[in-house]
Amino acid sequence: MANFAIMGFGTVGSGVAEVLRLNGGSIAEKLGESLNLKYILDVRDLSATPYAGVAVKDFSVLENDPDLDVVVESIGGARVALEFTRRALLAGKHVVTSNKELVAAHGRELLAIAREKNVNYLFEASVGGGIPVLRPLFQCLAGNRIEEIVGILNGTTNYILTRMVKGGVPFDEALKEAQARGYAEQNPAADVEGLDAGRKICILSDLAWGKEVLPEKISVQGISGLDLKDVAIASAAGYRVKLLGRAVKLSDGRQAAYVAPHLVPADCPVAAVDDVFNAIMIRGNAVGDVMFYGRGAGDLPTASAVMGDILDALQHREKRRNLGWSESAPLAGFDELTMRWYLRGGFPAPAGCAELSDGAVITGAMTAKEAGALAERLGAAALLPVLQ
Ligand code: HSE
Repeated sequence: MANFAIMGFGTVGSGVAEVLRLNGGSIAEKLGESLNLKYILDVRDLSATPYAGVAVKDFSVLENDPDLDVVVESIGGARVALEFTRRALLAGKHVVTSNKELVAAHGRELLAIAREKNVNYLFEASVGGGIPVLRPLFQCLAGNRIEEIVGILNGTTNYILTRMVKGGVPFDEALKEAQARGYAEQNPAADVEGLDAGRKICILSDLAWGKEVLPEKISVQGISGLDLKDVAIASAAGYRVKLLGRAVKLSDGRQAAYVAPHLVPADCPVAAVDDVFNAIMIRGNAVGDVMFYGRGAGDLPTASAVMGDILDALQHREKRRNLGWSESAPLAGFDELTMRWYLRGGFPAPAGCAELSDGAVITGAMTAKEAGALAERLGAAALLPVLQ
C-alpha cells in the first residue's frame, strides 16, 4: 500500500480526494498496490466531513511519518506552501503540486532539493489544469529544439471573455460565475491582470529551454484594460481577442516571454478555444506545431493531473524523474519583439497598414517599441499585438 497526504483541502485538494474515491480501483490496478489517503492537512474543521478520520492540523505529523510516500501541496501561494514543500522534500517525501506561483518563483530551488534527496517534485497541474502539457514538453518533445510556445493559459479570463462576447454578460457577473465554478484564484486580480498566465508561461519557458525565467522579469498585461469595442471590430475583421502567454527563442540565443491580449486570426485553432478551456501550441524544429487542449481549471480536471503525478512519482521511486533548470535565462524585453499591431484611433491609415472598420488599422511588422511610438504619435486609443 502507498500512502499520500493532501495539504490544503480547497478546490484542488478536495478534487484529488474525489478522484481517488471515483477511481481508486483502477488506480490500484495501475500501481500494483492500493493508494491510501492517510492525512489531510488543513486549518479548517473537517470533523463534519467524511474525511474527519484523516484530518490533521500539524505538518510535523506528515513530516515524521516514515510510511508516508507522497505529499500533495494544494495550499497555494508561496509562503506556507514553500516552507512545507521544502520540509517534505527534505524529509524524503515525493511532492506533487498544482501551485504555479510556487513553481514559477521557487521551482529551481525545490527541484534541486528533490534531486539531492532523490525524490520527485512534479507539477503537471500547474500549467493548463487537466491538460497533459508539461510531461509531453520535457519528455515526448525532448528531441526537438523548441522554437515557440503560445497559448491560452488562464481559464478564468477565457471564461470571462467568452461570456462577455458570446453571452453579453457584464464583466463582474462573468467573474462571479468563474469564481462559483472554482476557476478563479483566491485573489482574482491574479487572473484578470495576467499574473497567473505569466507564471505559467515562465514554467513552460523554464522546461523548454532549461533556464529560469522569473515572473517579475516579464511583461504582463491582462484583460482589465480591454475595450469591448476592439473585440467587436476585431471580430468583424475575422479575428478573435484572446489573452495569450507567449515564449519565443530568438535567433541570437536569447529568449522572450510575455502575456498580453492578442488579435488571433479566426482560422487559427486557438481562436476557437472558449470558456474555461486552455490551449497550448508548441513549435519544435522537428515536429512542427503541436497543440494541447482541454479544461484549464476546475477541481476534477486539475485533480486528474495531480493524480497522474502521484502515480508517476510512485512509479519512479527508485529512479526519479530528472527535472530541473539552471539560473537566469538571457532575456529579450517585450519592446524588442517584432509583430503586427492593431491600432484604433480614427486617424487616416498610415502607409503599409490594413484598414479595418471604425478607424482601426493593422500595421505591418514592427517592434513593440516602434508600435508604442506610432500609437503615441497618432493618439491611438488601443494597441494590441496580432498573432501571426
Ligand atoms: N485561476 C486559474 C485559471 C486556475 O483560471 O486558469 C488554474 O490554474
